[in-house]
Amino acid sequence: MSHKNSIDLQKVPQHIAIIMDGNGRWAKQQGENRIYGHYEGVNSVRDVVEGAGEIGVKYLTLYAFSTENWNRPKEEVDALMELLVSTISAETPQLNKKNVRLQAIGNLDSLPSTCLEELNESINLTSKNTGITVVLALSYSSKWELVNAMKKIAGELSAGNLEPADITEQTIEKYLCTKDIPDPELMIRTSGEHRISNFLLWQLAYAEFYFTDKLWPAFRKEDLFEAILNFQNRERRFGKTSEQLTQAK
Ligand code: FPP
Repeated sequence: MSHKNSIDLQKVPQHIAIIMDGNGRWAKQQGENRIYGHYEGVNSVRDVVEGAGEIGVKYLTLYAFSTENWNRPKEEVDALMELLVSTISAETPQLNKKNVRLQAIGNLDSLPSTCLEELNESINLTSKNTGITVVLALSYSSKWELVNAMKKIAGELSAGNLEPADITEQTIEKYLCTKDIPDPELMIRTSGEHRISNFLLWQLAYAEFYFTDKLWPAFRKEDLFEAILNFQNRERRFGKTSEQLTQAK
């Protein structure tokens, strides 16, 4: 039986963030080069987006390329950029058919122009869709995002538009790439690594973390459903006691 049937549809996390890790190791296991792993990873992306949409997840953020990934061999960076362009271009009609909206976060201006153009086109073409929003984190790192936010806030301070005493959590959130997106309740990382690797450090403050040994190209919607079931069996206390939560029910 699919894990899907056991999911409580009233308690599905509205935002799930995923660190898609293990493409290179998966490829090596198949005797192929790392780039083959990234290509196979796209099949997992497709399946997981579909699965998340089926159960009513509102936002799915995928860590597709980090700021640090620019340091990989040029051949791999070029192949990843080409894969992004070809995938986004080929998948946009399907995204529209399935009512999926595409968005992106990160230092998008650092992407090659072909990639940025394709991305912007797909974002525009899917902007009216009302189903799941897929947020691609591209050339993204949380420290970059926070530095960027601090610079903008400092600019507002020096222009006299903001007083230090008026800075709140909401002020900072307004300057993050995710300003109109609710924080993820669940963060999944594949491939057995237990790190968050500069991903959504602010936004994951209260998220539940789910780690699986599966390598990303082997991760499918059924694995997503399993992660959601695991999430639903946890008690999220937000600093309160278990008794306080029971009394509030
Ligand atoms: C991490 O595995 C994966 C990446 C750096 C790239 C992820 C990109 C994709 C799955 C393609 C996504 C495409 C779209 C359109 C969203 P790794 O290379 O670090 O694997 P390793 O840890 O085994 O070396």
